[in-house]
Amino acid sequence: MTLANYFLFVSIFLDICSLKLAADCQKGCEQSRGSIGKAGMKNLAMQGHSFRNYTLSKPYDCHVKCFEEKCKCQAYQIRENRCELLDEDRFSAPEDFFKEKGYTYYDMNREYVNQVTSESNIQCAEVSYYLRDYLRAKLNDIDVMRLNFDGCKKYEFISIRGYNCSNCTAQFVQTDNWHAHTDSFWGPKIGCQFTSQSTGAVRLLGGEDNFGWYQTVNPAHRCTSSNDSTTQWWLGVLIRRH
Ligand SMILES: *[C@@H]1O[C@H](CO)[C@@H](O)[C@H](O)[C@H]1NC(C)=O
Ligand SMILES: *[C@@H]1O[C@H](CO)[C@@H](O)[C@H](O)[C@H]1NC(C)=O
Ligand SMILES: *[C@@H]1O[C@H](CO)[C@@H](O)[C@H](O)[C@H]1NC(C)=O
Ligand SMILES: *[C@@H]1O[C@H](CO)[C@@H](O)[C@H](O)[C@H]1NC(C)=O
Repeated sequence: MTLANYFLFVSIFLDICSLKLAADCQKGCEQSRGSIGKAGMKNLAMQGHSFRNYTLSKPYDCHVKCFEEKCKCQAYQIRENRCELLDEDRFSAPEDFFKEKGYTYYDMNREYVNQVTSESNIQCAEVSYYLRDYLRAKLNDIDVMRLNFDGCKKYEFISIRGYNCSNCTAQFVQTDNWHAHTDSFWGPKIGCQFTSQSTGAVRLLGGEDNFGWYQTVNPAHRCTSSNDSTTQWWLGVLIRRH
């Protein structure tokens, strides 16, 4: 096997807003769907069933931890920045489900798919992500190590609050005063191809910032949902095998 066709790209890989996970579980092949928009049940909690606690404030992260425990984790609850994984849920132990101020309780929504029998060979360990609030570009097009720029740049893919485009231009800003980001309110007005994200964009104070700059935030954009959000930049080399 030879390796050919290397090219550089920069991937700005952010918190993923929803995910689909699959894993082996005792009953079979298990699948779980989580989403940042998932509504928890406020001021309710299971008592006496948390078997593992983490310091994590985002429901999404807690969902992932719960998923990782496979069958053992039936639900989870969060209080401030504490994520508690539960070995029973409100259906299996309703007598332990109480009003509890400050807690938000989440059902796990596990689905069992493709029942695995001893002779079957289904691999359930794949993880696939929906690419939401994510962007990817070639370093040739957006050189985040050097670029001092405010204008339209080519992206391989960019997704903001469910709006996306591929192989298109969208605003990119990085100057001495601003960390790299794009603006969903003002960006679409400067002639770039990606404009659909202006629907629902926050206008005040400075136009919704996404990816890496947090002055005007939008809770609907998972990666710039608050001043505490973080942005991860991944630099990679794509290797094509022939
Ligand atoms: C997790 O935190 C809750 C609430 O503070 C506590 O009741 C429970 O015992 C903790 N569980 C573990 C495994 O530490
Ligand atoms: C991009 O948006 C289209 C139209 O809303 C949607 O059908 C598609 O699933 C999205 N693609 C990705 C990769 O998110
Ligand atoms: C974007 O361009 C790349 C490289 O030319 C191509 O592989 C990919 O299929 C294109 N994506 C879309 C959605 O057109
Ligand atoms: C984020 O920080 C800015 C600047 O300190 C402040 O003006 C803004 O109100 C903060 N936004 C939120 C949602 O806390």
